[in-house]
Amino acid sequence: MTSSKVLPLLLLLLLPSAALAASISATPLILTKSSREITIKWTRIESPSDLDWLGIYSPSNSPDDHFIGYRFLNGSDTWHTGSGSISIPLVNTRSDYQFRIFRWTRDEVNYRHHDHDHNPLPGTRHRLAGSTTVRFENAEGPDQVHLAFTDRVDEMRVMFVTGKRSDAGVEYGLDPSLVGRRVVATTVTRYERSDMCDSPANSSLGWRDPGFIHDGVMTGLDPGKRLVVMLLAGVRSTALYLPTQ
Ligand SMILES: *[C@@H]1O[C@H](CO)[C@@H](O)[C@H](O)[C@H]1NC(C)=O
Ligand SMILES: *[C@@H]1O[C@H](CO)[C@@H](O)[C@H](O)[C@H]1NC(C)=O
Repeated sequence: MTSSKVLPLLLLLLLPSAALAASISATPLILTKSSREITIKWTRIESPSDLDWLGIYSPSNSPDDHFIGYRFLNGSDTWHTGSGSISIPLVNTRSDYQFRIFRWTRDEVNYRHHDHDHNPLPGTRHRLAGSTTVRFENAEGPDQVHLAFTDRVDEMRVMFVTGKRSDAGVEYGLDPSLVGRRVVATTVTRYERSDMCDSPANSSLGWRDPGFIHDGVMTGLDPGKRLVVMLLAGVRSTALYLPTQ
């Protein structure tokens, strides 16, 4: 008997434990304004349990117990095989994201450590895997465009958010080349952590910087005509085509 027969056996014994580590992936790695849904896939979770959960982190370097949201892995039909996937819509918070998978055991459930809905907060003692980071393209915006009517049929209000304070406005007209365009400046507001009235919104964990909120009213519109609108904030953004009221 030579040692050459022993070696392959040893390798076989060692390999499975390395291959068994749970893994998690997130796609796409860069989200865009038109594609804000992330798909999280995981594999090789050993003896899956209905308490296994996925933590959502933003910024990506947050400590384990600072998750901003979570989902139980049993939200995926195949969770009991140890593999599965969940898709989640993400908000552009101008910070990157990371996703981590944890095991939580029944004896660790602590009903005194709960969220505002009185659900016990999942435990972070057993981290199984962490994803690569995910971010938004052009995260500083303009983003989160909202439109509203005013009291006049020839007006529309446009609101949007930017990451930096900048002179901004809205350029609009009927022609896609913006011949005969008009420009209206936007007023800019924001709020601070100290303006929040209670925890967790006023704490470092719950506080999200809202960015700079722009508000402008387009006037002198022709009802029933398609309108071309450009958001102006540092650079001219892509055109939005809006029907007027
Ligand atoms: C998933 O597990 C959690 C925690 O045990 C449970 O509250 C929830 O009802 C389960 N959901 C599904 C879809 O089975
Ligand atoms: C958050 O608001 C609560 C209620 O007003 C207050 O008691 C607490 O001190 C605030 N926390 C911070 C960090 O300002």
